[in-house]
Amino acid sequence: MNSMSMNTDIIANWQPQHERLFGHHAIKLQHRLAETGLFTREALGRLIERCPKGELGLESMGTETDNPHRLYGELGGATGLEAIEAIEKGRIWMNIRRVMDWAPEYRDLLNKVFDEFQARMPGFTTYKRNIGVLISSPNAKVYYHADIQGQSLWQISGVKRVYIYPQSEIFLNPRNIEKILLRETAEDMPYQNWFDDYATAFDLHPGEMLTWPLYAPHRVQNHDCLNISVTMEHWTDPIWRSYAVHYGNGVLRRALGLQKLSTTSDGLSVYPKAASALVWKKLGRQIKGDVIKRRDFRIDASSPNGRRDIAEA
Ligand SMILES: [Fe+2]
Repeated sequence: MNSMSMNTDIIANWQPQHERLFGHHAIKLQHRLAETGLFTREALGRLIERCPKGELGLESMGTETDNPHRLYGELGGATGLEAIEAIEKGRIWMNIRRVMDWAPEYRDLLNKVFDEFQARMPGFTTYKRNIGVLISSPNAKVYYHADIQGQSLWQISGVKRVYIYPQSEIFLNPRNIEKILLRETAEDMPYQNWFDDYATAFDLHPGEMLTWPLYAPHRVQNHDCLNISVTMEHWTDPIWRSYAVHYGNGVLRRALGLQKLSTTSDGLSVYPKAASALVWKKLGRQIKGDVIKRRDFRIDASSPNGRRDIAEA
């Protein structure tokens, strides 16, 4: 069956107020991704096998009790289904990236989802849309961070708790946003335990989707079960203007030592800032995204922790 023959909406419980809330408040909605047939274990097993090597992120942690170091893995000879089994019993994160670039049926789904949003929110014009799949072990976590583009998280299997923090300078200093944009840091941000008193926690179950305001910091904690989630990202003109302002401010601060910079993205001052952002990029002052060359482990579904360290292999 062609999954795109589905003529029901992907979002099952859209209400008129969601148009006003979207992008400004955290909102949890019901979705029908499971009905596409694209996210069964078998379909995902095949997707893992089709995934270009460079787009398959596999991470685990060392065994040190305090501050364990990050390990990078590869599929090796494992099948996709074996990889899911290995993740189910280990401490492994799999990130299947940029699926729309190499799997047309998922690109069609991504476009259907955003067409549906646009039909419900006239003026919500999106570009640079991205779809990825995250498969992660029981109890895995994602540390406190913020993202630079519009985000949504769609739960397929398992349960995870997502903490969303206020979009405020108290929880994320604009200079930290600049650092993220200028790629001077991994996207982990300074975090204090008391932040949680001001967070909203959502338990995300299969069939639920969560979206939150731009730059709202968040962290994620899996329940004690395998988690399969879909991530979607998008850009809009307001998101791009906001990026340009923060990026431009970061460049100005570094280049000229300016301290007091506005983060308002309305008004004419956006454009010189956007221009300076482009100049900065041209100058090549950005730290390049990490290219992972080292591989520490291979997937091994027969091993108790789902992996075999390459040094031992
Ligand atoms: Fe995120």
